[in-house]
Amino acid sequence: MTETTSGSALRIEHLETAGTFSLDGGTWDVQNNVWIVGNDDECIVIDAPHDAGAIVEAINGRNVVAILLTHAHDDHIRVVQELSDAVRAPTHLHSSDLMLWERVFPSIDPNHEIQDRDIFEVAGQRIKALHTPGHSPGSTCFYLPSEGVVFTGDTLFNGGPGATGRSFSDFEVIIESIRDRLFELPPETVVHPGHGGSTTIGDESPHLDEWLARGE
Ligand SMILES: [Fe+2]
Repeated sequence: MTETTSGSALRIEHLETAGTFSLDGGTWDVQNNVWIVGNDDECIVIDAPHDAGAIVEAINGRNVVAILLTHAHDDHIRVVQELSDAVRAPTHLHSSDLMLWERVFPSIDPNHEIQDRDIFEVAGQRIKALHTPGHSPGSTCFYLPSEGVVFTGDTLFNGGPGATGRSFSDFEVIIESIRDRLFELPPETVVHPGHGGSTTIGDESPHLDEWLARGE
């Protein structure tokens, strides 16, 4: 925990919401993680899946500095407009995922386009955007060095890279992103993904050759 200038400690809260993911004509039941980084006064929300009410409840009246989207697959952005309206917070997405965003929200754009290495400040700490294409062209991870944590969306899970079998995905590119950006972080860095349990960079990095051999 890190003491901030306002005196209340920065913390990371997690909730899980349930719904569906649809792409390429298929629909699957999924559970998604939502990560909330902040203190008693303000927070940043990472991803907006399925249930705006549950996310608003977890925010609990705090000022939301930004809603950061790890990518624009529909399970991660389904309720982002509802959430943005409810807590009056701007939405941020890498522009390379706009073709996915437009399938969910054809008539409205994200408020801001994320650029690689953008910095977002919350509760006296800094979150850095790492553009990590592969699962989707605009996939972005968010690194919080003060806590030794990286939020990886669907780029890196406990057990390996995110899926690359559907449209707009690329296995070679996701491997490059994981190797060159995520595995450059300290090995003790905790990985909080978009689905499932957490892991660390040091627990995942020894398995790169296995993932290359299996090709997914
Ligand atoms: Fe995804």
